[in-house]
Amino acid sequence: MKKTNVTEPFLPPLEEYVEYLKGIWERNWLTNQGPLVAELERKLQVYHQIKTPVHCITNGAMGLSIALRALGVEGEVITTPFSYVATTSCPLWQGCTVKFADIEEDTLTIDPRAVEAAITPKTEAILATHVFGNPCDVEELQKIAEKHHVALIYDAAHAFGVTYKGKSILEYGDASMVSMHATKLFHTVEGGFMVAKDPAVSEKMEWMRRFGHNGPEKFHGIAINAKMSEFHAAMGLCNFNHIDEIVSNRKEICQRYNEELENKIPTSEYGSLTPVKYRKASSRNYSYYPVLFKNTEELLSSVKDLNEYNIFPRRYFHPSLSQIDDFDSGDSQVPTTLDIANRILCLPLSNNLKDEDLEIIIKTIKK
Ligand SMILES: Cc1ncc(COP(=O)(O)O)c(C=O)c1O
Repeated sequence: MKKTNVTEPFLPPLEEYVEYLKGIWERNWLTNQGPLVAELERKLQVYHQIKTPVHCITNGAMGLSIALRALGVEGEVITTPFSYVATTSCPLWQGCTVKFADIEEDTLTIDPRAVEAAITPKTEAILATHVFGNPCDVEELQKIAEKHHVALIYDAAHAFGVTYKGKSILEYGDASMVSMHATKLFHTVEGGFMVAKDPAVSEKMEWMRRFGHNGPEKFHGIAINAKMSEFHAAMGLCNFNHIDEIVSNRKEICQRYNEELENKIPTSEYGSLTPVKYRKASSRNYSYYPVLFKNTEELLSSVKDLNEYNIFPRRYFHPSLSQIDDFDSGDSQVPTTLDIANRILCLPLSNNLKDEDLEIIIKTIKK
């Protein structure tokens, strides 16, 4: 029996990808800022309605690392403990230190009050995640960043296409990274892209991803290799032809989950099970469907029941990043994150999710 995972990649019709392959074969241009990467960058810019240049890269983790470098962040970074491991490991990999600030219990994004309380004279940046595509409190974070003269970087790995107050979420903060990994809403197999508000920072990002070349024999400075290949860009271009269908399929599944699960499970009988709240004035991209159980026991019991049907939801994100030994000095006070991480489960959500599996998930969770 085939496994049903929390998320599964969308694959465009093979013929569409083969058409792009023919062009790659004709040009014999496989990587190094080829025409398909340039076309994908243009399309990403138009889709997000942003004026700042889009820089495609090998993966989102490289994007976060380059964003930190391009902004000159080398010291203390305040970040969220409720995110994927990359949000913490990238600054640490860059030689920065990290300090965790707790999250808001309804939106699950970093709490600006906790950020402000964590700031010290050593702080150089705030690195916040629009977790599950839910925008952070970008206005409050901006005020704090300006007041304390620190950089504001967004891990927008989950936030493809999200808008807040009518404009792209990528317009907020100094820099953002979106992941285009195979498990994401929109993907290039492996891949990602980054943007920066300041043209000088954006220019640095552009050369930092390709060894710093300034012509064949000159170099802008220390850099790395994070170039996207033409094969990866081709997958993105194919998927762009299907993005509306991808989003609307996922929206339908989320609506079905909402109809069956949101406010439908009487607290007295089953314990509370609440879908996460999305920030007002933000659009949804339907990238994840997280639900909060009353406690870990109920969560584990549902997971066990679903596993028996070969259905595998995921405990995104568990454990709290503050509980990973190498990540924390041990003095983090993040009670909300610890509580949420113990009770949260992401239900399967993908274009391949079959109706019968959806019914089993709903029935099992309700039971
Ligand atoms: C919140 C978050 N940040 C960063 C990343 C890293 O992105 P990538 O897998 O493209 O390197 C991911 C990817 O899974 C993520 O979920």
